Amino acid sequence: MARIHVCSVSELPAGEGRRVDTTPAVALFHVDDAFYAVADLCTHATASISEGYLEDDCTVECPIHTARFCLKTGAALCQPATEPLQTFPVSVEGGEIFVDVPEGGAA
Ligand code: FES
Repeated sequence: MARIHVCSVSELPAGEGRRVDTTPAVALFHVDDAFYAVADLCTHATASISEGYLEDDCTVECPIHTARFCLKTGAALCQPATEPLQTFPVSVEGGEIFVDVPEGGAA
């Protein structure tokens, strides 16, 4: 795994998400006091999950066909998606956010 610096905590307020240009691209979300990273490419078709709609129950809705995914597990919670999103470990140190992606995944 490669540890990628994304941004500072102050740059990603609660309730927001952003795309991380790694390979594969990652969607990073800030929900309450926690950060979650999942694959940015929807498992149903070509949509950017980081552009989706963050819900209060720690899920995100795909912006194209409205499948919902659990940010904690990546599980697909409703049609049309049936395959889960890959999840990635997130850590915060010194007010900076890092995501662990597969080796060679840095942009
Ligand atoms: S592209 Fe995400 S649900 Fe279809």
